[in-house]
Amino acid sequence: MSATPTSTSPPVYPEHLRAEVEAYLERVRFSEEFATAGLEEAMRYSLLAGGKRIRPVLALATAEAVGGARASVMPLAAALELIHTYSLIHDDLPAMDDDDLRRGRPTCHVKYGEDVAILAGDALYAEAFRHLLTAQPGEPARVLAAARELAAATGVDGMVGGQYLDVAGVSETPADLRRLHELKTGRLIGASVVCVLLLSGLPSDADETLSWRRFASELGVLFQIVDDILDVTGTDDDLGKPHGSDERHGKRTYVTEFGLQGAKKLAQDSHAAARATLSSSAPQGAPELEQITDFIYTRTS
Ligand code: IPE
Ligand code: IPE
Ligand code: MG
Ligand code: MG
Ligand code: MG
Repeated sequence: MSATPTSTSPPVYPEHLRAEVEAYLERVRFSEEFATAGLEEAMRYSLLAGGKRIRPVLALATAEAVGGARASVMPLAAALELIHTYSLIHDDLPAMDDDDLRRGRPTCHVKYGEDVAILAGDALYAEAFRHLLTAQPGEPARVLAAARELAAATGVDGMVGGQYLDVAGVSETPADLRRLHELKTGRLIGASVVCVLLLSGLPSDADETLSWRRFASELGVLFQIVDDILDVTGTDDDLGKPHGSDERHGKRTYVTEFGLQGAKKLAQDSHAAARATLSSSAPQGAPELEQITDFIYTRTS
């Protein structure tokens, strides 16, 4: 059993899974065409800038937890990271969070201009689905179910809807704030788990799938509560992005709503809830998913 994280225990991460993802992403190419090479360069600049690779690593770890082969979900894993990278490029734009540092480098729009950065994000989103629907092995009905889940998790009832709630500043109650986090961050993290189950053949409404969904959703909320805390307590160097971005933009976050100590307590509760739902979903144990859950709670970057 993994150790219960404390504020002093160093975060542990399944680095071997990250390395597999990194090697795969390095090999993904989008076009042979000379004229669009500059667009591909901007896409790869942001995609291959490091990053924790939490979403694809979660997908690989979920495959292991349900007895599948890691390599069999690698195209899905890559698609998740392409979409996540697109969301970061757009999130950093002047019209959004107006940040100039990401993954330790100048943001895509600082390096290539706003027009190219917008297009690089658009293209990463489309190429993610092209890659999933072209390279993902499995019965067509299962691949289709995973693609449907991924589209839903990133659309109006998912990440983009959550980004809208964030920029529109329409959330008022603590329940609204949790909903914002569930959509903005939780749905894509959730899809990293659920799409793998759909590829493995579990029906989307099976009790087992619902239990995994609860785990994945809690993990996503935990991730964003910790992100809100790190925006206040982290350094630019550790985070690879500017700290204090939320405050500069007057964003409503778990820290503004509950104070730093309150947010830390809620992160602790959310971590405990995530571990409990993981135990119900994988009663036989899932060591890598346990590690990732603990890492998301204790991370400093
Ligand atoms: C940052 O995501 C954006 C949020 C959803 C909070 P990550 O913290 O996973 O960023 P990278 O991929 O490691 O750069
Ligand atoms: C953005 O949330 C989540 C996305 C969907 C990209 P944040 O704006 O808090 O992410 P960071 O802090 O810039 O990484
Ligand atoms: Mg944002
Ligand atoms: Mg941001
Ligand atoms: Mg943030």
